[in-house]
Amino acid sequence: MSKRPFYITTPIYYPSGNPHIGHCYTTVACDSIARYKRMQGYDVMFLTGTDEHGLKIEQKAAEQGVTPKEYVDVIVDRFKSLWKYMNISYDRYIRTTDDYHVEAVQKIFKALYDKGYIYKGEYSGKYCTPCESFWTDSQLDENGCCPECHRPVKYAKEEAYFFKMSPFAERIEKLLLETDYLRPKTRAVELVNNFIKPGLEDLCVSRTTFKWGVPVSFDDKHVVYVWIDALSNYITALGYENSAHNDYEKYWPADVHMVAKDIMRFHAIIWPAMLMALDLPLPKHLAVHGWITMAGKNGESEKMSKSLGNVVDPFVLGERYGQDSIRYHILREMALGADSLFSNEIMINRINSDLANGFGNLVSRTVAMVDKYFGGTIPSEREGDALDEEFRAVVTGLLPEVDKYIDETKLKQALEEIFKVVDRANKYIDETEPWKLGKDDTKKARLASVLYNLLEAIRVTSALLAPFMPTVMPKVWEQIGASAADVEYEKLGVFGVLPENVTVHKGEILFPRIDVDKEIEELNAILAKNMAEAQAKLSSEEKGEAAAEPEKIELKPEITIDDFAKVEIRVAKVTACEKVKKSDKLLCLQLDDGMGGRQVVSGIAQYYAPEDLIGKKIQLIANLKPVKLRGVDSNGMICAADTPDGVKVIFVDDSIPVGSKIR
Ligand code: ME8
Repeated sequence: MSKRPFYITTPIYYPSGNPHIGHCYTTVACDSIARYKRMQGYDVMFLTGTDEHGLKIEQKAAEQGVTPKEYVDVIVDRFKSLWKYMNISYDRYIRTTDDYHVEAVQKIFKALYDKGYIYKGEYSGKYCTPCESFWTDSQLDENGCCPECHRPVKYAKEEAYFFKMSPFAERIEKLLLETDYLRPKTRAVELVNNFIKPGLEDLCVSRTTFKWGVPVSFDDKHVVYVWIDALSNYITALGYENSAHNDYEKYWPADVHMVAKDIMRFHAIIWPAMLMALDLPLPKHLAVHGWITMAGKNGESEKMSKSLGNVVDPFVLGERYGQDSIRYHILREMALGADSLFSNEIMINRINSDLANGFGNLVSRTVAMVDKYFGGTIPSEREGDALDEEFRAVVTGLLPEVDKYIDETKLKQALEEIFKVVDRANKYIDETEPWKLGKDDTKKARLASVLYNLLEAIRVTSALLAPFMPTVMPKVWEQIGASAADVEYEKLGVFGVLPENVTVHKGEILFPRIDVDKEIEELNAILAKNMAEAQAKLSSEEKGEAAAEPEKIELKPEITIDDFAKVEIRVAKVTACEKVKKSDKLLCLQLDDGMGGRQVVSGIAQYYAPEDLIGKKIQLIANLKPVKLRGVDSNGMICAADTPDGVKVIFVDDSIPVGSKIR
């Protein structure tokens, strides 16, 4: 009988900087599922890759004086070496610069055009260069910035092709609300309300402002814009519209696409619409996880990302604690759909408690006792106990639970179930007190039963942990004397698989205990250094970007000098400043304005601490109508500039007296 196919994909990552722990999450999660499914006997296709086109790549390459392809080649190698290092067992790696993909994307674009779903029009709107996204005014954040990276957007206008989305609105709404496509389902309502109910907007799918992309075959002024190029990878990698591969029939539709929440919309709405337009079957599940976040300024957590420079280097962590511990930690911390805060402290405590004290200790204690009391080989005589029945039931009941959670893409829960059994086994040691049995010659048969039962619990839990921690678990099997056949999937729901007279082999410590204080100090120092380097690099890159493409700035309608004269701008000095209660954004400033003083509220709390402003001179719009902000009176406004690094107050030279008029 041929094996059942199972197709799982990660997003294709932008090779615009080194991969970090955030990228590892999706890839490690998919790898664990792929390994589990292989263990269950499926014929697995696990796809990952890189999304190599776009303006950002073109600009970065130009800055370094290399071609875009030369630029991405270097970073793709880094992604591939990280995946090798993290033991990622992908079956295929797609690069959107691969010829077969380019050819297939051109055919897909043409097919959508021929069917009347793609048409030529003009785009004007707010554009975020780093995210390569146009946004409508209603989608911008509260500061009028990009809703994803929160950087300033700019007005842009260009001839473009559009993909008509509205014909698919009803089917997509049903897909989201009535099927198990989107996981977690709780996000479906938000998508429907935000994007479908207001009317699905047509999607801009080509660009004329840069060249580094797949050319539109029938209009070479245009290149295909990121999402049609990127999303198609899931089918072109199988051979759709190309002859490089030919397993589309076997693997499509995908069983699981896994992505983080930032690209949920593209996978939950645009991708199904594209497939509907092409008359292709829809993928079975879209599993959306949250972000790995880092504690940011003001104690709020923010996404770990290349552009924020707050990335954690998986190679650094892997070298110190082993790849399997890192894999375990990130999977164990993140619930499907929710964010998870990364901190060195949480990680080290987790490794110590679950892996060193929990699982590692169970294995080393058990193996050491078999060694000590029986010279390494369990004798045949046995004496059971009522407690054993319950213990066995716990062990044999584990498999269906883990199967269920894997099928639901809930890896955190799958690991929790396995560790419940690990904890139960450690408790079984405390209950049976084998060290006492070992001292009494009449209790040898009882001791043999206890230790055999423990070895069986280790066999089952280690086999179920192997897809998550593929490097360490084979070492466990060696220690407990389990053969490859003993840890096959079919044997994981039954008890008594290890040979009656099994022989153990004491081995290395699987998960050494970590000295928390020492490690945290060292790691924080490394992280701080990396972040400083990344930030410095980032700001120089941003300067390069600005030079590469002069901004198209849309000015407001002209005003006369008389109009301008209506605005009173005066120099004022900040005499006191504090945060407005219950607001993350507002600061309340007391100003010496040369007119008896006044109070102004300003939305700059995310960028300045009160003490950064006290004593500084600023530009005050002095005749602005007073308003209340969060119940606090504000009499005027202080001038600030929107910059790629956030909002910056325009400070005035200290030699200019308070009250001076600015004109
Ligand atoms: O969006 N926490 O590529 P990308 C968790 N090329 N996951 C994270 C993460 C974090 N802090 N940072 C990144 C793109 N990820 C497009 C995708 S797909 C057809 C095209 C992971 O390099 C997460 O899986 O920005 C997210 O969806 C993916 O990286 C996006 O990576």
